[in-house]
Amino acid sequence: MSTPGSADLQTLRVADNALWEAGPPHAVFAQLRRECPVHWSSGISQTPEDAGFWSVTRADDVHAVSRDWETYSSAENFLITDHGVPMDLLKGMFIGMDPPMHDRIKSLFQRAFTPKAIAQHEAAILEIVGRVLDGLEGREECDLVLDVAQPVVARVIGSFMGLDPEDDKPWAEAINSLLGFGDPIINPLGMEQIVTELIPPMYEKCMALVADRRANPTDDMVSTLVFAEIDGDVLSDYEIFAGFVLLMAAGNDSTKATYTSAMRALLEHPDERAKLLADPALVPGAVEEALRMFPAFAHFRRTATRDAELGGCPIRKGDKIAMWYPSSNRDEDRYADPDRFDVTRNPEHQAFGAGGRHFCLGTALARLELQVLVAETVRRFPTMALAGEPTWVVSQFSSQLKHLPVRLATTNEGGAS
Ligand code: HEM
Repeated sequence: MSTPGSADLQTLRVADNALWEAGPPHAVFAQLRRECPVHWSSGISQTPEDAGFWSVTRADDVHAVSRDWETYSSAENFLITDHGVPMDLLKGMFIGMDPPMHDRIKSLFQRAFTPKAIAQHEAAILEIVGRVLDGLEGREECDLVLDVAQPVVARVIGSFMGLDPEDDKPWAEAINSLLGFGDPIINPLGMEQIVTELIPPMYEKCMALVADRRANPTDDMVSTLVFAEIDGDVLSDYEIFAGFVLLMAAGNDSTKATYTSAMRALLEHPDERAKLLADPALVPGAVEEALRMFPAFAHFRRTATRDAELGGCPIRKGDKIAMWYPSSNRDEDRYADPDRFDVTRNPEHQAFGAGGRHFCLGTALARLELQVLVAETVRRFPTMALAGEPTWVVSQFSSQLKHLPVRLATTNEGGAS
């Protein structure tokens, strides 16, 4: 029996859409950390594909799973929900591989992501953010998701990958559809149509770029991938495409999600925003706090390659395991008052993964982009205020706001917070 206000953990299915309509179910996660930190949710259809999964909710356990790739493999599928994304595409991405193949391909990508390589994009990011914010001039209200975050992240990753600006929109739509599979408004097409209608033109566009860079190399990401060699091997066309989709997906929604969650938190916590206005050097710490409290990806999955034990629970070979970052990042054993948004906390966190082979490749790019976005938005619109209820994308994977309506400038009388 469950007590009032708490879930019945025997029957709880952590991935039920009903729990995720207003973002991650933080109260449920807090209960799980307290009462059952490694929890089994049974599947609905009881088919082998839907046999259920383990939820790992405490930071130490997430860390243990993330580091042990030999027991907890990424190669089956890195998501728990049945999304219908074609398996050959998922398996072609190195995020869905184990060593040694994973390490080989990741190292080819890594050279474009060194802090030095990323620092070279700073001027472009400043220009893109400045231009998008300039575009708000004369407006009283806007939606920070659609009017700021989306065009900025699409152009930043687009310029990083060497895309023409007119391709930003179709790529962003395709990626939003791929990642927003739980949400019929974000993804009205359904996965079958995505596979037949969206993916083929993405592949064509990517291959056109590959052909162009083979003939006319530049210093962009695609040129790096086309010519990268390890022990005489180069990437196949499909490996390049899968890697391309992976970077476009990872670079689009994650940064958009974190920026909009950070802005929402700042608008809801005027004292914290005032600290940033008084001392912009606090912005990087504020970004880390937003990453901690609102991790853009709610989970990544592993699959047990052998029987094991985790938090006293018997894990069987073949079991699915979800590492829930919205939970581990609020683990009371690591953070005092974990639900409090505090721009001076400067926390370590697991938003980029919890260590191990699959640790996020894009941290330097994401941090730079987020810092510029938050700093510029707060500086240019010091009296911005919420202008309506933010709404969430309903997804157990891509944890982000769908809309964040704001008033750009407010007067004291108008209730600027
Ligand atoms: C706020 C922004 C971001 C967040 C929260 C984030 C989060 C994550 C997480 C949690 C993982 C670990 C996956 C796992 O353990 O299985 C990951 C992996 C990855 N991320 Fe990010 N990411 C962000 C931005 C980016 C950007 C901007 C890029 C590149 C353009 C990127 C590229 C990747 C790649 C390629 C991997 C796979 C690494 C591997 O499998 O070895 N990410 N990210």
